[in-house]
Amino acid sequence: MSILDDDKAAQREELIGLLTQAYWMEIETVMSYIANSINPDGVRAQEIIESLQEDIQEELDHAQQFGRRIKELYGVVPGSLDFKAEQSYLQPPDEQTDIVHVIRGVIEAETGAIDHYNKIIEFTEDLDPVTQDMVVAILHDEEGHRRLFEGFLREYEVEGLA
Ligand SMILES: [Fe+2]
Ligand SMILES: [Fe+2]
Repeated sequence: MSILDDDKAAQREELIGLLTQAYWMEIETVMSYIANSINPDGVRAQEIIESLQEDIQEELDHAQQFGRRIKELYGVVPGSLDFKAEQSYLQPPDEQTDIVHVIRGVIEAETGAIDHYNKIIEFTEDLDPVTQDMVVAILHDEEGHRRLFEGFLREYEVEGLA
């Protein structure tokens, strides 16, 4: 009894759909974090820039993990023409000193990932423990990312800047 069995084809297809969405979310996060790790101006931006630079590498690794799992499940990693952008909240702010805009955008991106990965974990329960294990580990990373940026936001809130 395995997710790779012939009679699991329908569930496998649905799971590949969920993993493909996760793959695109990671790719878009890489794009958004690259821009937001370069654009910000000001002394206070440095902590955010360094943190996003680290996250870029982790999100890229997540994208690769999702891609490899899609292939293991007999799927095909999509080409770039299938990409559709969704992260309106992570576009560059009007002022590049607007760090709060970036922090809030990161929290929203991480929250979206956390919600979607919890959905995959639920879907794979009693169906595909390997995918579930992988996504649990990735979810742990995203929760860490969100917590870090919630801390950054708290600092601005305490000072009345957010
Ligand atoms: Fe990620
Ligand atoms: Fe993340």
